[in-house]
Amino acid sequence: MSPCGQARRHTSRGAMAVLAWKFPRTRLPVGASALCVVVLCWLYIFPVYRLPNEKEIVQGVLQQGTAWRRNQTAARVFRKQMEDCCDPAHLFAMTKMNSPMGKSMWYDGEFLYSFTIDNSTYSLFPQATPFQLPLKKCAVVGNGGILKKSDCGRQIDEANFVMRCNLPPLSSEYTKDVGSKSHLVTANPSIIRQRFQNLLWSRKTFVDHMKVYNHSYIYMPAFSMKTGTEPSLRVYYTLSDVGANQTVLFANPNFLRSIGKFWKSRGIHAKRLSTGLFLTLVK
Ligand SMILES: *[C@@H]1O[C@H](CO)[C@@H](O)[C@H](O)[C@H]1NC(C)=O
Ligand SMILES: *[C@@H]1O[C@H](CO)[C@@H](O)[C@H](O)[C@H]1NC(C)=O
Ligand SMILES: *[C@@H]1O[C@H](CO)[C@@H](O)[C@H](O)[C@H]1NC(C)=O
Ligand SMILES: *[C@@H]1O[C@H](CO)[C@@H](O)[C@H](O)[C@H]1NC(C)=O
Repeated sequence: MSPCGQARRHTSRGAMAVLAWKFPRTRLPVGASALCVVVLCWLYIFPVYRLPNEKEIVQGVLQQGTAWRRNQTAARVFRKQMEDCCDPAHLFAMTKMNSPMGKSMWYDGEFLYSFTIDNSTYSLFPQATPFQLPLKKCAVVGNGGILKKSDCGRQIDEANFVMRCNLPPLSSEYTKDVGSKSHLVTANPSIIRQRFQNLLWSRKTFVDHMKVYNHSYIYMPAFSMKTGTEPSLRVYYTLSDVGANQTVLFANPNFLRSIGKFWKSRGIHAKRLSTGLFLTLVK
């Protein structure tokens, strides 16, 4: 990503110069001075030992933006490998095509639990993946707070497909940093439980909250954990009952499993893939 807005340049070298200037000269023994120099050099060479604050992280990322060049060859190779392993164009979501009635599938986040696709779940699947993969110019927006004060909103909204993670707030106070468009929003069942009482009581708060996502697909890992299935189905029925503009897509557990393996073979071992990393694959 190229830097958005005016990044306030502030290298760690500059910060250290300020630090040195602020401290009055003191008469320390030579040994102590040498030790100070060693410690400062150490901190300079291995800055990881100093916990950066959020602002510094954002600035770091923005600075990388100028140096980072997209390697077209590498991107093509990577896309090819990923298509060979995971076939996102066909397996991204549960569809009538890849999940016929009576098919037995395994939950990808459980140890040995399967389910069979019956009439009622089958009828919730679209015929095929409703958008064309790979996507042309796509933005994946995480919700880790790193975009705060980044001014990236306009650049994000320029993408023709914007994916967002875990039902993030999109109210006007954030528009400048995160944009306002979205085409696909992921939602974990755990968020439905924490923020919307699992949709067991009034669903108005939920329906109102979803309006900011306009005509997005709501992408839910409904078949990763057994406990996630019912809340995901409730999201589907809630939105379709009120005639909402959003459409629920269920993640295909076979797809989630194969991309988990794909990243693992590249040395990324997370128990569950972070949503952002996972979506990066799709684009
Ligand atoms: C781009 O990626 C290819 C394949 O990974 C690599 O061989 C090549 O050296 C890279 N080019 C640059 C400029 O980094
Ligand atoms: C599945 O649904 C179709 C149409 O809704 C119905 O005709 C059929 O009898 C159902 N099959 C089962 C096994 O319930
Ligand atoms: C909402 O969707 C409509 C129709 O797809 C589009 O014209 C409009 O620009 C969208 N609004 C936002 C804020 O994304
Ligand atoms: C659905 O979208 C249309 C046009 O984008 C808008 O006029 C309408 O109010 C939306 N419906 C709901 C329930 O939000």
